[in-house]
Formats: sequence, C-alpha cells, structure tokens
Amino acid sequence: MVDLKILITGARGQLGCDLEHNFFKIEGCQVVSFGREEMDVTQSTNVQELVAANTPDVVIHSAANTNVDSCELEPDSAYCVNALGSRNIAVASEMVGAKLVYVSTDYVFDGTSQRPYTEFDKTNPISIYGKSKLAGERYVAGFSSKYFIVRTSWLYGEHGNNFVKTMLRLAKEKTELNVVDDQVGSPTYTKDLARFIAVLLRTDLYGIYHATNTGSCSWFQFAETIFQISGLSHIKVNPITTSELNRPAPRPAYSILDHYCIRLEGLPDLRPWEEALHEYLSNQR
Ligand SMILES: NC(=O)c1ccc[n+]([C@@H]2O[C@H](COP(=O)([O-])OP(=O)(O)OC[C@H]3O[C@@H](n4cnc5c(N)ncnc54)[C@H](OP(=O)(O)O)[C@@H]3O)[C@@H](O)[C@H]2O)c1
Repeated sequence: MVDLKILITGARGQLGCDLEHNFFKIEGCQVVSFGREEMDVTQSTNVQELVAANTPDVVIHSAANTNVDSCELEPDSAYCVNALGSRNIAVASEMVGAKLVYVSTDYVFDGTSQRPYTEFDKTNPISIYGKSKLAGERYVAGFSSKYFIVRTSWLYGEHGNNFVKTMLRLAKEKTELNVVDDQVGSPTYTKDLARFIAVLLRTDLYGIYHATNTGSCSWFQFAETIFQISGLSHIKVNPITTSELNRPAPRPAYSILDHYCIRLEGLPDLRPWEEALHEYLSNQR
C-alpha cells in the first residue's frame, strides 16, 4: 500500500538520482521523478500542471544551476533557475498541500565566521550562486506553509561529476596535482543526505536544517584522503591558495555548518565524512 507519494525535481543530478533510488527501496513510498527534460522548473505552467497531475504528499526540490562559476558569469540563468524556479515549485507544492523539501547550500554564508554556522546565523552570500540559492530559500519560506530547507555542502555521489571523481581521473593522468588548501568545509555523500531527508520529511518539524557529513577538511586534505584510501599515495598533492586558482566566482573560505537543529530536535545525525568516503570509494572498486 502506498502511504507516501514523493515528487523529485532535478532527478538526473547527483543528489536527485540517489533520492530516487533511496525512496524506491522504502516500502510504502511511490516516487515520481523529473529531470529537466520532463519538468523545467523555470516554466511555471508546466510545473503546476505536473505537480497537480501527480498530487504528491512531498516535493523534494533538488534541481538547481549548480555550476558556481557559470552562475557568476550568467546571473540571469542562475536567478531564473535557483530563485524563480524554486518559487514555481513552492507555489505548485502549496496548491496541492504538499510538504516541500528545498535543498540549499553552505554558500548562503560569507565564510568569515570563526565557528561553525548555525541555522540561526545571518546569511551573507558572496557569489551569484549563493545569492540565487538564498533567494530560492526566501521564496520557499514565503510561498510554502510546510517547508524544510536543508542546507548541505561539498556533495559527491555515484552519479554525475564531483570532486572525488575528478581527483581519481586526474590521478590516472598526472603524478602531481595542485589543490586549494584555504577553503574549509564538509564533504557530504549524497546517499547519506538522501537518508537524512527520508527521515526528516516524515516529521512535521518544519524549518531550516544544516545537514552534511560531520567533521571538516580543506579541499587539499580531502584530496589527500581520497588518494590515501584509494592506495594512490604516489600522487603528490601541492596545497595552493584560492587566489592562485583564479576562478570567476568567490567561494566562502570557511563553510562548516553546525547541525544545531538536528541536535535540538534529537534527529539522527549524519556520520563522519571519512567513514562515508571509505564506503563510497569501496563501492567504486
Ligand atoms: N553539488 C554540491 O556540492 C552542492 C552543495 C550544496 C548544495 N547543493 C544543492 O544540492 C542540490 C543538488 O545538487 P547536485 O550536486 O545534485 O547538482 P547537479 O548534479 O548539478 O543536479 C542538478 C540537476 O538540476 C537540473 N536542472 C538544472 N536546471 C534545471 C531546470 N531549469 N529545470 C529542471 N532541472 C534543472 C540539472 O540538469 P542539467 O544537468 O540538464 O543541467 C541537474 O540534473 C542543488 O539544489 C544544489 O544547489 C549542491
């Protein structure tokens, strides 16, 4: 018997794929998932028709323009997808009375904090990507009466491109790599985030949550750990600064998220990032 019908946006993305697989396995869940081809979130009429036709209990909005540098160079596209697209999803979800889970980012913060950011800290994004995702959060909070905003960071998973896959590919092509050492955050396995979302959406504990794998590292330390676990210790990794990399979009130097609301609500926290990375890499072999 189906007791929960879930609609997923951005279903061909890294997280969207794992959300789909995770909910398919849960008894009582029916999943309808849409990639960009079936549901372009910027098209409000299309979004409303598809949501109304499927009458989900929960919408998980994972679609986004996630290329931080191209968002900086093409802000119209970033705001259309991340801000207005999220408004469209929030309006359509509200029309059918569905709960809404909006996946957001650590990039809503400016990265100048000396301690992990809680859900109650002031946002101040420094990139167009961060600003457009924060605008999406505000639309979600404004148009949905039953929302969860789940801020996460540094995602990797089996599907799509990510930092771990890039490091493993470069390790086959090079013997030495330069990796940024002055940005600190929490790598997060999409499977773990999908499991957390599955628990959260069964509750009515609405609001903002910070959900990443626990612990933190720099990109340089992340790369070194990937090579160490994969037995590729012959790769020489050189720490460099963000300014040496010279990317179009600024990134927060420090984006560790405190899981304050997970603790306050007594929800199950995510495991340490090293443990999750071990499992991910063993699945790749
Ligand atoms: N990746 C990270 O490190 C990270 C960190 C923090 C938060 N997040 C958030 O987590 C969520 C999932 O990220 P992800 O890593 O899974 O990203 P992803 O792999 O880039 O997936 C996003 C998906 O959204 C789709 N999309 C783009 N524009 C769309 C549109 N107009 N209509 C419908 N679908 C559209 C993309 O399709 P195309 O491939 O066709 O463009 C892609 O399949 C996003 O909301 C992101 O902001 C990600």
